[in-house]
Amino acid sequence: MVTRCCIAPSILAADFGAMANAVSQAEEAGAGAIHVDVMDGHFVPDISFGRQMVERLRLATALPLDVHLMVGNPARHIDPVVQAGASAVTVHYEAARGPDELAQLLTAIRVSGARSGVALKPATDSSVLAPVWGQVDQVLVMTVEPGYSGQAFMPEMLVKIRRVATQAASHSVTVAADGGIDERTIGRCAQAGATFFVAGSSIYSPRRTVAEGMTALQAALDVR
Ligand code: DX5
Ligand code: ZN
Repeated sequence: MVTRCCIAPSILAADFGAMANAVSQAEEAGAGAIHVDVMDGHFVPDISFGRQMVERLRLATALPLDVHLMVGNPARHIDPVVQAGASAVTVHYEAARGPDELAQLLTAIRVSGARSGVALKPATDSSVLAPVWGQVDQVLVMTVEPGYSGQAFMPEMLVKIRRVATQAASHSVTVAADGGIDERTIGRCAQAGATFFVAGSSIYSPRRTVAEGMTALQAALDVR
């Protein structure tokens, strides 16, 4: 089976003064989605943006908006971001108080009309997914510590991607990698079984245009 891969530029690495332009450029360059990192200064140290940004981006692009909630109280933000235009919402396993709450969050995302996602920090074992395979549409394996763009890829996460991908296949769940994805790492993640790649600083970079970044990542995927 050939699974289509999707590169999702993360606007956390884009120019905050020109977000609409950043997503248009990504769309023109062949991005499959736009990754939107919502950070509350509590689950992670920084504050980024929230539903208002999702609402504004919804007007700027036709691409799916993939919202990654790095927040301490995800329940409060699910409906607002979906109403603002999110196509997928990912919550952190570590932000839920146990498997029951995680399952409730994922169900709430689906009920609101979006694809449900769960993100795992690097230290979290993939076995925590066992109770929620029936509620989840995508698993986001963090390949850096959540919170910042521009960190180095953690190669030890490839084993986790492979493990998640093996189980995800029988549940029709998408496996995504987030953090340090560039032309040197994207192929390794694809080989391990990921099909969705979040890329911040390799797409929004002072070194090259968005189109050049997308071409480089796509080429690395194609040669693998
Ligand atoms: C990190 C965020 C990522 C980040 C990726 O916590 O979840 O989406 O923007 O940026 P890069 O690709 O630069 O690691
Ligand atoms: Zn992210």
